[in-house]
Amino acid sequence: MTFSELKKKPIILGIESSCDETAAAVICGRKLLSSVIISSATEQAKFGGVVPEIASRAHTEAVDEATKQALTRAGIGVGDIDAVAVTYGAGLLGALLVGLSFAKSLAYSLDVPLIAVNHIRGHLAASYLSDESLQPPYVTLLASGGHTAILHTKTYTEFEVLGSTSDDAAGEAFDKVARILGLPYPGGPNVQRLAEGGKAVIPFPQSLVKNSQRLQFSYSGLKTAVINYCHNAEQKGNSINPADIAASFQCAAIDPLVKKTVECAKKLGVKIVTAGGGVAANDYLRTQLFQACAKANLKLILPEKKFCTDNAAMIAAEGLIQYNAGNFAGMDINACAQIPLK
Ligand code: KG4
Ligand code: ZN
Repeated sequence: MTFSELKKKPIILGIESSCDETAAAVICGRKLLSSVIISSATEQAKFGGVVPEIASRAHTEAVDEATKQALTRAGIGVGDIDAVAVTYGAGLLGALLVGLSFAKSLAYSLDVPLIAVNHIRGHLAASYLSDESLQPPYVTLLASGGHTAILHTKTYTEFEVLGSTSDDAAGEAFDKVARILGLPYPGGPNVQRLAEGGKAVIPFPQSLVKNSQRLQFSYSGLKTAVINYCHNAEQKGNSINPADIAASFQCAAIDPLVKKTVECAKKLGVKIVTAGGGVAANDYLRTQLFQACAKANLKLILPEKKFCTDNAAMIAAEGLIQYNAGNFAGMDINACAQIPLK
């Protein structure tokens, strides 16, 4: 595509700073031109998790550099931007304010629209970058550090929550189990790695709430079961196999999500399944979902792993949806630490 062809579609700069990644990305229409992530995860790992003040300071240092790199890699100048999309919530307040203030100043000085993006909607929109032909309706398995839900996206701007967790999110459970097993931050990928060498032989409780009126998941019981299993073994002087614990936990956490996602799509007669959020980067989840969708004759659209965890490409992708809907933010928009899923 030549630059003049690209220019017929809006060029959107996305900025993300809700947790420990400072990210900037450029899209033109649905085509991704660049994506830059500067992470403070190594710094945070020394403390075993994200320290809000360290995150805010790291964003302050990195947001300008991430944006410059994103523009350079996209081969555009700052004057080519048609809109600035930025995460305004949910996330760490101080961290969000850095990206939001930066985006406001940029949009104001360029005199282009500012688009305020809900981080979770960004995770949903990541799939649009994987398949430029993706259109609603579709069913999404959303699993991140803050949310776990199955959603029915009906139009570009409307979705229905079909089921969600009643307590912890799946990613949170991965992080807690990592801590129990003495694995460093970030927990999820480390549990996955350990699980690869283990067998799912321990009967931990599955994350699905049985006999519930509505579709519900729960991760606190599963997490407690892992803690109890380790403590009991310690008290009895029995040895444990951490790889088997990780593999058994991973199956108990993920199998019900995959099964129910496919069931929801079949029940609704929806032919497309997508996934999003950090846990969707998990290889076991991806393989299971791929196999289950293939068996049920459903088309699966999975974002690349790097677009499942936090990034700005997904914020720009959701920005495009809001741009097309004419949904722009005022300069008085504030950051929100929490935004309900619906
Ligand atoms: O979507 P995300 O990057 O941030 C939030 O919006 O929460 O998700 C982060 C979560 C963390 O809990 C992390 O441990 C988990 O996603 N995660 C994974 C994997 N990669 C990230 N969990 C399991 N397996 C992975 N490979
Ligand atoms: Zn996220």
